[in-house]
Amino acid sequence: MDHFSVRDGRMFAEDVPLDAIADAVGTPVYVYSTATLERHAAVFRHAVAGLGRGEPLVAFAVKANPNGAVLATLGRAGLGADVVSGGEVARAVAAGIPADRILFSGVGKTAAEMRIGLDAGILQFNLESEEEAQLLSQVAVDAGRVADIAFRINPDVDAGTHAKISTGRADNKFGIPAAEARAAYAAAAALPGLRVTGVTVHIGSQLFDLAPLEAAFGRLGSLIADLRQNGHDIALADLGGGLGVPYDPALPPPPTPADYGAMVARATAGWDVRLAFEPGRLIVGNAGVLLAGVVRVKPGAEHPWVIVDAGMNDLIRPSLYDAWHDIRAVRPSGDQWTANVVGPVCESGDTFATGRDMDRVAAGDRVAFMTAGAYAATMASTYNSRPLTPEVLVSGDRWAIVRERQSVEEMIAPERRPEWLTA
Ligand code: LLP
Repeated sequence: MDHFSVRDGRMFAEDVPLDAIADAVGTPVYVYSTATLERHAAVFRHAVAGLGRGEPLVAFAVKANPNGAVLATLGRAGLGADVVSGGEVARAVAAGIPADRILFSGVGKTAAEMRIGLDAGILQFNLESEEEAQLLSQVAVDAGRVADIAFRINPDVDAGTHAKISTGRADNKFGIPAAEARAAYAAAAALPGLRVTGVTVHIGSQLFDLAPLEAAFGRLGSLIADLRQNGHDIALADLGGGLGVPYDPALPPPPTPADYGAMVARATAGWDVRLAFEPGRLIVGNAGVLLAGVVRVKPGAEHPWVIVDAGMNDLIRPSLYDAWHDIRAVRPSGDQWTANVVGPVCESGDTFATGRDMDRVAAGDRVAFMTAGAYAATMASTYNSRPLTPEVLVSGDRWAIVRERQSVEEMIAPERRPEWLTA
């Protein structure tokens, strides 16, 4: 459920008309809803409440939407953070998320990033290889600290999602094979500066089937028993993220957080560990829209081309993953048509929708790309020298710019001219 609705012929984010934001800030602009963020945080926390030992940790996957105001909203709603870089550690800490609610995942952490995590005092490092454990051990010893660690287990299950966002098959780069886990834990436990505390798994994103997750958790459960027999004190099982969200209202909906919670309860019965989760998309996906202006409409061979002022540089998901985003008029006239919706970038891949049945729009109208709160603004680039899009956060009848539109000058400013070109 989200808080974007049409009232009196205009689309609102909570109690703010999207037109008012576009008039003030221009387009394209990302708009997020506080009430939706808070609702999703509460629904997920409720779905896993009471599972495992103590209070479960719901660590928002910062990569999905790292905007500081979004992180601060989720932190106040009781969420922690799953981070994958030194930059994400810094963002989570700056947003006021307590260090003991921060998990550090990621397949290529450098020594400098490990040091940032250690100095911040994060809860646990999720390691992806024995080599990484060796480096973290050195960094922790040098820093005079002890790092709590888990290994990410690659359970070799097919999550049944897009190949580019599947992470739990043996041929994916992530984690260590379950068969090698025992040796990896023994080696890590013998290293100075490391304390074995957990296990973790994450098999992919935008999952619509709970069965592969349940299979992966089953493998993790056997491993926990095995590791305990080998003398390791496994206190935290981090079950990753991955639950899908509905992008296309015409398709059957994904499992609900309650369905997911019931499955987790089944799969983890008797584990006697604290549970952690790393939902990203589920928390922020439906909490955001990308608001764009229609630059012009030109005739096409089969369907008209609706050319909008947002491009693949602003929202790359359709071009990268063939992702489907609902596209609605901000002031729907009631007329429908079939159109192609494209951006201004000079690539045919800059296509948001082909042959889409949608609200009829004309030059000067505005459209909203729905479900654009996750993996959207954060994956933007300045390709075609298009400055980064601003972000706005709505709360009730209030709204605020939470990231300014980048100016052309700011976009160019970091560049330098070598002396042989300035003479
Ligand atoms: N934990 C780990 C270790 C992850 O790698 C991810 C996502 C998550 C949690 C959060 O997964 P979620 O709950 O959001 O599914 N850019 C792609 C999605 C990439 C997901 C990467 N990892 C997209 O736009 O679909």
